[in-house]
Formats: sequence, C-alpha cells, structure tokens
Amino acid sequence: MYPFPAVDPIPLPAPIWLLKLLHIVTLALHFVAVEMMLGGLLLAVLLSLFRGSPLSMVTARALARRLTVVMTFVINLAVPPLLFSQVLYGRALYTSSVLIGIYWISIIGLLILAYWLLYRFAARLQAGRSAWWVGLSAWLLIGGIARLLSTNMTLMLRPEVWRQMYSASAMGTYLPTGDPTLTPRWLLMLAGGLFVGGLWLVYLAGRSTFTAEEKRFVAGLGGKVAAVFGIVYLAAGLWANSVQPAAVKAGFEGQSAYPFYKLFGDAGYAWLALVGLAVLVAAVAGFAKLSASWVGWVGAVLVLLFEIAFTVYRDGVRDLTLLAKGYDVWDRVVVTNWWVVGLFLVLFVAGLGVIAWLVSVVARAQKVMEDAA
Ligand code: HEM
Repeated sequence: MYPFPAVDPIPLPAPIWLLKLLHIVTLALHFVAVEMMLGGLLLAVLLSLFRGSPLSMVTARALARRLTVVMTFVINLAVPPLLFSQVLYGRALYTSSVLIGIYWISIIGLLILAYWLLYRFAARLQAGRSAWWVGLSAWLLIGGIARLLSTNMTLMLRPEVWRQMYSASAMGTYLPTGDPTLTPRWLLMLAGGLFVGGLWLVYLAGRSTFTAEEKRFVAGLGGKVAAVFGIVYLAAGLWANSVQPAAVKAGFEGQSAYPFYKLFGDAGYAWLALVGLAVLVAAVAGFAKLSASWVGWVGAVLVLLFEIAFTVYRDGVRDLTLLAKGYDVWDRVVVTNWWVVGLFLVLFVAGLGVIAWLVSVVARAQKVMEDAA
C-alpha cells in the first residue's frame, strides 16, 4: 500500500528547481547559525568555569553576549526552509510531525526557555557571578531541540514505520527507534558546532575590541578547538554517509531515475575538501596564535561554503531515500505565477539589502573594548 497521503490538488506556484534552490540556500544559513549556537555556547560554558582567568572570562562574555543575537538568526533563518520543505515534502513531513506531535510542538516551549536562559547566562557573566550551570541548561535544551529535529527529518524518510507507530499511539507521544542514520546525523551537527564555534573564535580574534594579549588567547584557543573538532566532524560525516541505504549510494553514483543526483553526491566530496582546508587554516591560526582579521574571514567563507555543500548532499540523501520508497519530489504539477515569483525575488533582494545596511551600521558603530563591555 502506498504510504504517502494524496497530493494536494493545488499546483505548485513556482518551478521545483527554484523552490529547491531557495530551500538549500536558506537552510545552509540556518545551519551556520545553529552550529555557531551549539558550539559557541558550549565553549562559553567551559570557559566560564575558569573564573580566576581574566582571559577565559573575557572570551566567555564575548561569546555569551553575541549568542543572544545568534539565536535570532537561528530562528529567523529557520522559517524559510521550513516553508519550502513543507511545500516540497509536506506529505512526508506533516505525517512524521504528527506522529511525534507532542515532542514536535514542545520545541516552541523548549526554545523560549533556552532563549531566556541565554540572556540569564550573559547577564550573570557580565555581573561576575557563577553562570556555567545556566549556560549548560540552555545548551542541553538546544542540543535536545537539535535531536528532535534530526528525529523528525529522519522519520519523514521512513514511511514503512508510520503505520505501526500510529497503531502504537495516535497521541504523538511515541518516539521512533531503530533508525541507524539518526545518531550519526545528530552527532555530525554537534561536532560541527564545536568546529564552527572554534572558527568563530578565530574570526573574533581579528576584532579590534580585544587587546593584543586577548587576541592571541582567543585565536590560539579557537584554532586548536576547531582543528580537533574539524577532524571529529569529518569522522562523523563519513559515519553518517556509511549508514545510508544502498539506493542513496547508487543514486549518488548516477544510478537512479535522475542521473543528475551524481552532482549532489559530488557535493559530499566538495564538503570533505572544504572541511579539510578549514581544519588546516584552524591549525595554523591555533598553533601560531594568528589573529589577523583576514584569517578569520577565510575561515568564515569556508564555513559558508562547506555548509552549502553539506546541505546539497543532505538534500540528495532525502530525495533519493524518498524516491526509493515511491515519493518523487519532481513529480508535481507546476503552474508558475511569474508575477508572484518576481515580486518575491524583488522583496528577497531588498531584504538582503536591508540586512547589509544594518550590518554596515553595526560595523560603523563606536567600538567598546570587550573587557569594558
Ligand atoms: C535552537 C534552535 C534550533 C536548533 C538547535 C536547530 C537545529 C537543527 C538541526 C540539527 C537540523 C538538522 C536535522 C537533521 O537533518 O538531522 C535542523 C533542521 C531544520 N530546522 Fe532547525 N533548529 C532550531 C530551531 C529551528 C526552528 C525554530 C525552526 C522552525 C521555525 C527550525 C526549522 C528547521 C527545519 C525546517 C529544518 C530542516 C529543513 C529541511 O530539511 O528541509 N529549526 N535544525
């Protein structure tokens, strides 16, 4: 029996390739923010344990203050990919979301609590009070949210377990088990967090708001953390790849109804190369305590590129898994409304322009030294 609900009779209002392109770009940006949050917060918590070390405390405060802003990006950059994936994969995603309904809806409450704790964490650090337990609580909640998202994004790919799950509980209280891809996928995000968090420190070391001594400390610490966890991230990626079903591996070699998925598989190789390069940059910055701002920028650009490569590869995993189970994302009626698409693109570019202007205002603002802030 075909497990997916009937397709919505309303046609898609834009070409599938365009919806997928916008989905991948916005989701890659969500992932950059998520990784900064997962890694930056854990680093700030660990640094805040060393209350006797002024260098550790300055760095913990610098991260904590910025994390409340990063959270706005995590959330705002999550909405567009959620909308695009509902349009493209709604029949799978809605089903899995309903099956784990209680947990799925709980994300809103967990997120609000974590956000509040982030502000408390920053304020306590600022006031020189013990804060690690507040930050750790926020991190556990955020890591839990990541786990729930990985759970839903893998459950949507397993129509074969939906019926049995629904029979066991129609209340959405039952979490799925037995998916070999779930844990490697989640660990990949957690390891990527410390990798990106380390590279974020290398970037911060280039800022003129740190003294020369602080810069050397921040660059040295960030570079070393990123070099070590970049290797863990690579290992987790290879693990996540190795547990993919045979149909996905064949599709990435061009053996599916859509041979162009070979390019999605090639994005996996691009990810390997870019992460390898970023590990090298991090190691150089870490061991030479290099705090030049261009090093931070090279790291930042590499992060953006490997997150895009990762997102393309991950998209291929989803499409090929669903294709093997009878769900073809390309098989939809499209009636493009070019006026609406054009208006959307104009507003999208205008929005990017406003963000660029906001960033330029922040960049021109009077600088306050980190240890005075
Ligand atoms: C602290 C908050 C958050 C964290 C830590 C987080 C983390 C993650 C992670 C780890 C994934 C990848 C899961 C996987 O594929 O294995 C993910 C994907 C996703 N997140 Fe977030 N997320 C957060 C907030 C949000 C919010 C608030 C939304 C919705 C408004 C959201 C929407 C999504 C969507 C739609 C995807 C998958 C999109 C797709 O595959 O098409 N996230 N997130």
